[in-house]
Amino acid sequence: MAKWVLATTLDRLVEGMPRLVRVGGDDIAVFRVGDEVHAIDDLCSHAEASLSEGEQRGYTITCPQHGGKFDIRTGRATRFPAVSPVRSYPVRVEGNDVLIDTGAS
Ligand code: FES
Repeated sequence: MAKWVLATTLDRLVEGMPRLVRVGGDDIAVFRVGDEVHAIDDLCSHAEASLSEGEQRGYTITCPQHGGKFDIRTGRATRFPAVSPVRSYPVRVEGNDVLIDTGAS
């Protein structure tokens, strides 16, 4: 069941500068690419690292800890040592508001 929550605003998101938001107890990394916004779990699936502290290039985020890579559109791991996906969240932009669906994954 969808549970849309206001997470941040578009004007606070800068491409290439991921932002950590806490929504309903979940730490979520939020990314901007042009007018698109994508959201994935902040915690890397490999070990203890915050993906929002990584380097974003286009749709790829590189984990700051060991260099694993993820596709921010799907959460899919695209480079070793990250092999398991992280959760991705549906995002809706309404005007300046960025809403994230934190409902069932
Ligand atoms: S903690 Fe992210 S790749 Fe190892």
